[in-house]
Amino acid sequence: MPTRFDVCIVGGAGHVGLPLGLVFASKGLRVVLQDINAQALAEIGRGTMPFLEHGAEPLLEKALAMGTLSTSADPATMGMADAVVITIGTPVDEFLSPNMRLFRTWADSIIPYIVPGQLIVLRSTVYPGTTEWLAKYLEDNGKKVRMAFCPERIVQGHAIRELQELPQLVSGIDDACRDAAAALLLRICPSVVHLSPKEAEFAKLFTNAYRYIQFAAANQFYMIAQDAGVDYNKILRYIKKDYPRARDIPGAGFAAGPCLLKDTMQLAACASNTFSLGHAAMLVNEGIVLYLVKALRQKYELEKMTVGLLGMAFKADCDDTRSSLSYKMKKTLQFSAREVLTTDPFVTGDPEIRPLDEVIARSDLLILCAPHKEYKNLDVKGKELLDMWDFVESNGARA
Ligand SMILES: NC(=O)c1ccc[n+]([C@@H]2O[C@H](COP(=O)([O-])OP(=O)(O)OC[C@H]3O[C@@H](n4cnc5c(N)ncnc54)[C@H](O)[C@@H]3O)[C@@H](O)[C@H]2O)c1
Repeated sequence: MPTRFDVCIVGGAGHVGLPLGLVFASKGLRVVLQDINAQALAEIGRGTMPFLEHGAEPLLEKALAMGTLSTSADPATMGMADAVVITIGTPVDEFLSPNMRLFRTWADSIIPYIVPGQLIVLRSTVYPGTTEWLAKYLEDNGKKVRMAFCPERIVQGHAIRELQELPQLVSGIDDACRDAAAALLLRICPSVVHLSPKEAEFAKLFTNAYRYIQFAAANQFYMIAQDAGVDYNKILRYIKKDYPRARDIPGAGFAAGPCLLKDTMQLAACASNTFSLGHAAMLVNEGIVLYLVKALRQKYELEKMTVGLLGMAFKADCDDTRSSLSYKMKKTLQFSAREVLTTDPFVTGDPEIRPLDEVIARSDLLILCAPHKEYKNLDVKGKELLDMWDFVESNGARA
């Protein structure tokens, strides 16, 4: 392993850290991916992506062959890099509050390895004020660094392309820190936008909370339409026809995953729980599963039925099950249905997942939970299908 790196990505085996490291390495920077997940690091070292990320494997193979990418579980590696980019997870706690304790514990753990003057780019989504807090905390512990905050804005699964196409939001605790971070990011992206750290922290949270609220609006329209006996998706198609102002109205579907809810709740916490739109969005988006199950119970004798769930990932064409509403659907249905079967073409590591053919054959009713491309022209063998996404072009009856 080299003794010096241009960039150390902390959390480098994760969904944000790994694609970022690969893109840096593809531009010739010497990158080390530092992570506590030794198994994922070993896979990466063998040239295998630990999760689905379009366009990543060729970059990984090339970076390993060229020697521009290394992996390490040792946090001391941070001290061997000119710049350290932080991409660790920042979940909310069991009360949906930002988990500052986790961040503080992590900060304590890195203090011995940080080199004074080093460029530290915080890239994880953080509670407003965290960047300045971290800079001061490190300084108070004898490590004055050049601290920047540059939030990740990619859509998961498409980071390799988007990192090279999207402008980067760049902030620093002073102009020199900001400019150093901008110089680093301009190695991979077309342009940067300057903000203050707090502005950038809010920018990221606003972006995700807004998406979450948009999905909630669509999901609430869906429920209102269902209760009135009309088809939301059909109405949406008509609304959108040659009408530009309706172009961005989303269809109904599960709004889940590791970011949207958590970031909306971080914003709610920051607004002293007065972010009523955010909380309302959570009730709608999380509640849609219960709404669907209630409607099915009114229509069918679920206790006599086997229900098959199609797609357990949190979104389409993705293998990530973090905070997937498909699992909430499974758990909820297990109270009502005789049996619940699950299938997914991408998800690995869930021993209860069955082959698609088996799920279709054994189920009395199918529910589309994640609209993977594989399901577009699905032959459901005449089974009833609940497809709130209006996605499957199927020959089955609509539930
Ligand atoms: N997933 C996305 O699409 C996305 C998009 C934008 C922003 N974000 C934000 O980026 C951050 C990371 O999200 P993610 O989806 O990549 O999470 P992830 O769980 O996929 O990756 C985090 C990585 O950090 C590692 N890690 C945890 N603690 C560590 C430590 N002490 N030292 C070294 N490594 C450690 C984990 O093992 C994991 O590999 C979060 O703040 C998230 O909100 C995520």
